[in-house]
Amino acid sequence: MLLCNSSIAGRRWVNFASSLANERFYMRILGIETSCDETGIAVFDDEQGLMSHELYSQVKLHADYGGVVPELASRDHVRKIIPLIRKALKDANTSSAEIDGVAYTQGPGLIGALLVGASVGRSLAYAWDVPAVGVHHMEGHLLAPMLDDPKPDFPFVALLVSGGHSMMVKVEGIGRYEVLGESVDDAAGEAFDKTAKMLGLDYPGGPLLAKLAEQGTPGRYKFPRPMTDKPGLNFSFSGLKTAAANTIRAADGSPQTKADIAYAFQEAVVDTLAIKCKRALKHTGLKRLVIAGGVSANTALREQLEALMQKNRGKVYYPRLEFCTDNGAMIAYAGMQRLKAGQIEPLVSKAKPRWPLDSLTAI
Ligand code: KG4
Ligand code: ZN
Repeated sequence: MLLCNSSIAGRRWVNFASSLANERFYMRILGIETSCDETGIAVFDDEQGLMSHELYSQVKLHADYGGVVPELASRDHVRKIIPLIRKALKDANTSSAEIDGVAYTQGPGLIGALLVGASVGRSLAYAWDVPAVGVHHMEGHLLAPMLDDPKPDFPFVALLVSGGHSMMVKVEGIGRYEVLGESVDDAAGEAFDKTAKMLGLDYPGGPLLAKLAEQGTPGRYKFPRPMTDKPGLNFSFSGLKTAAANTIRAADGSPQTKADIAYAFQEAVVDTLAIKCKRALKHTGLKRLVIAGGVSANTALREQLEALMQKNRGKVYYPRLEFCTDNGAMIAYAGMQRLKAGQIEPLVSKAKPRWPLDSLTAI
């Protein structure tokens, strides 16, 4: 009904509807990610897989401020989005006429940044006469391991650890999410970034702190493993950050001391996340674990979870490194699943700076 009544029910929408009825059809999707400080664009094809992906990071723009400045982020997305879309189409050797749908990050994220992707994505879909779908950023992260083989089968437990969110989720299928726990204060990536800043590292400090920790002496410092002595699957990282701040203040400030503190901080975060994963797997009885989001790029975390899953005779899945942090490929992939399932939106452009993951439609 929606298709027939829509004022933009053109040829390709009709094709889309009839192909849905015929079940087997191919889709080539343009994915747009602009929720924070990265402009990510990708072309994903149902048959050929990922055809191209482009990423422009605004890291340098925000470095002087020690964090993301929302207004600067929006303006830079405006500057970069169209050239990147052109490049992604060119690299995929695809014309706009071959694009069957547009997926853009609808939320959660910075409202101005989201609106850039949402308005460009919706406008292109209108101009190209194809459907568009707004994707949940964390669903994008959650499905990012599916961009490569082997893909995890449902159901699985997902640990989502990014700069804005830390969540433990039981995943039964796409859109069938039970949030088992989440951070009551800082996200894991945020704690990494703030502690890195206190150690004098640039923004975003997570990867730099991890690098510094490689030179650290095990055992010189020990930080708490927050909320592991109580039952439950919530996280809290602000106390750990304060413990690190106090230690940094009282320490001698030498490069070795900084590396030792970085080591102890990373060890505490990784141990805490691993304890919670073990608990979530026990609680759900599942043997598959997915880790995704920026912090899933952390080598110490990957190694510890690999060891945990080997011991439990299970398997851990994570995205390839470049798809742990924000990117357009994960949005194209998630959007394709939703478009294939027939999720079509009316012609409105709405960004959602806050959006609970467990409110998504199951498909
Ligand atoms: O998923 P993401 O790109 O953006 C959000 O959705 O927030 O995650 C970015 C976060 C930053 O906090 C960054 O410091 C952290 O991921 N991060 C890392 C590493 N790589 C990125 N944290 C620890 N170790 C890493 N190797
Ligand atoms: Zn993200």
